Amino acid sequence: MKILVTGCCGYIGSHTCVELLNHDYEVVGLDNFSNSKKEVLDKISQITNKKITFYEGDMLDEHFLESIFKDNEISCVIDFAAYKAVGESVEKPVEYYINNVSSVLTLLKVMKQYDCKRLVFSSSATVYGNPVEIPISEAAKVGRTTNPYGTSKLFVEQILKDLYHSDPSWNIVILRYFNPVGAHPSGLIGEEPNGVPANLMPYISKVAKKELTCLSVFGNDYNTKDGTGVRDYIHVVDLAIGHIKALEKLLKDECGISIYNLGTGVGYSVLDIIHTFELVNGVKIKYKMVNRRKGDIAVCYSDPKKAKEELGFVCKRSLEDMVRDAWNYEKNKKL
Ligand code: WQD
Repeated sequence: MKILVTGCCGYIGSHTCVELLNHDYEVVGLDNFSNSKKEVLDKISQITNKKITFYEGDMLDEHFLESIFKDNEISCVIDFAAYKAVGESVEKPVEYYINNVSSVLTLLKVMKQYDCKRLVFSSSATVYGNPVEIPISEAAKVGRTTNPYGTSKLFVEQILKDLYHSDPSWNIVILRYFNPVGAHPSGLIGEEPNGVPANLMPYISKVAKKELTCLSVFGNDYNTKDGTGVRDYIHVVDLAIGHIKALEKLLKDECGISIYNLGTGVGYSVLDIIHTFELVNGVKIKYKMVNRRKGDIAVCYSDPKKAKEELGFVCKRSLEDMVRDAWNYEKNKKL
């Protein structure tokens, strides 16, 4: 059974390829290396002792996509390929909509052409905007997104709903990630953002490695236990396993179009992350309190009940595992 993974060399894509291979799926991968590195393919093989069938190219290229479907009988597509930097999306909205929305339209067109109508779509908790109710369930109102990245995910979710209502022979699972962090315990693959990290965990890892000198904590005047922002951090390996659960549902029964939050249901503050990272890894993280970051919300964490009941998905890895594996990956890169 062949599964096409778009963005297979990316952070979540590569970890999902590892879990797919570990579960004896045949993986066909595509990537244009706009935000990933080719050597990740070797790392995936090192971890699993298996190879994926790889195609380098861009999802906006219809003929490139057709060549993949012509060469392989694809049972299901897991679509990760997207730009995902919130701040960058505010500066470059058109690039984000072209890359995150138009590429999916091209993918859906070619999937239909080859009668491949099973899709797992990588969405994000940002579609909830500033949540009214915490914890956030899938029934929560979406919209009022605060950046083009989140809006691009919202647009694709709407496209998928419209597609399904036009043709119920599609089976689609939309996965809304909360805050993916950490790395594979081997230390061979992990989060590798271009340039200075925008996200908290990779920034902390760089401070620990002394590549960056001091973490700026964006606001300590939120209405939270210690004034800093609270998020639902999920280990990237748990997240990858969530995709296996979604795939099993897609392949096992006709699920129509289903939406699931992938999170732990537990919120941790920025200071929780800093202190746990220091304690588990025996390193000191220099930080200073600065003003809030524009577009940030105070608290965001999931109600993971639906994924547990319908996918049998439960996060297994702790915050300690997340900070340990993040630091292990960072240290391993030096070797
Ligand atoms: C987490 C907390 C910051 C950096 C975004 C996207 C989301 C997903 C994950 C793609 C917040 C604080 C951060 C720093 C800090 N991406 N922080 N100093 O903004 O919750 O979510 O990334 O799918 O869709 O929205 O993640 O890691 O940037 O921030 O104080 O240098 O850490 O204020 O409270 P965020 P983050």
